[in-house]
Amino acid sequence: MTAAAFDASRILAATRVQHVECHQELASTNDRAIELARRGESCLPLLILTQRQTRGRGRGDHHWWSDQGSLTFSLLLDMPQTAPGNLVSAVSPITAVAVAEALDTFSLGVEFRLKWPNDVYVGSRKLSGILIESTAQRAPRLVIGIGINVNNSFRDAPEPLYQQATSLADSCGRTIPLQDVLISVLGNLHDALQEFSGGQFGLPARWNPRCLLSGKTVRVSAGKHSVEGLCHGIEASGGLLLVTATGPAVCMNGTVEILARVS
Ligand code: BTN
Repeated sequence: MTAAAFDASRILAATRVQHVECHQELASTNDRAIELARRGESCLPLLILTQRQTRGRGRGDHHWWSDQGSLTFSLLLDMPQTAPGNLVSAVSPITAVAVAEALDTFSLGVEFRLKWPNDVYVGSRKLSGILIESTAQRAPRLVIGIGINVNNSFRDAPEPLYQQATSLADSCGRTIPLQDVLISVLGNLHDALQEFSGGQFGLPARWNPRCLLSGKTVRVSAGKHSVEGLCHGIEASGGLLLVTATGPAVCMNGTVEILARVS
């Protein structure tokens, strides 16, 4: 798949994106989106695609490994003005739901599960990662970076990726045009953000049936603080619901670790 195989005019016609940048190679589509936001780019939403990402970033200090056949892109958009204050923390799980529901439409015969705050899994392996960033300017912008393992394979990937990650091709034995996946995800994401801004996106109802952590004892760590408890899914603003030894707790950010499975 070459960058030219992304047909910018089809993407513009099929989505709400106003401008598309297709690159052969980029260090990180999120870095490029942030650079454009700082330059005051105003033709938004702007989509940045690359065939090869050489320094893909993940949450915290994680890297995002990608190979030929994986889909890596970032969407730069205005911070929704009508958004509730908690939009930024909710965008991560909303985006993960949008990705999972988009992948469902390809009827691949696998279940797409969600690991808070924003990972899409098939079985015990990660399929897609999402990196949400914002730029603090007079006109604040949101960057939604998405990596989906579509037609790449982890069969020959280095450890520990070989054990931990999967692609649609590996888990379903089928290849799907990257552009079809992209258009489907962008459509779902647009609708989901609109619904959330209007208070109509039922996050718990759409996340919890796919929640990988429900019924498991987990530890959520954020900086020096950590909380342990039994996971009961997520609540409307995107926080993870735990029942701890001292009562219920809602975690709005952090890294989650599974300690034990109860049910
Ligand atoms: C994670 O799992 O920690 C998040 C991974 C996010 C990867 C995507 S790929 C496109 C965009 N550009 C980046 O540098 N990262 C995101």
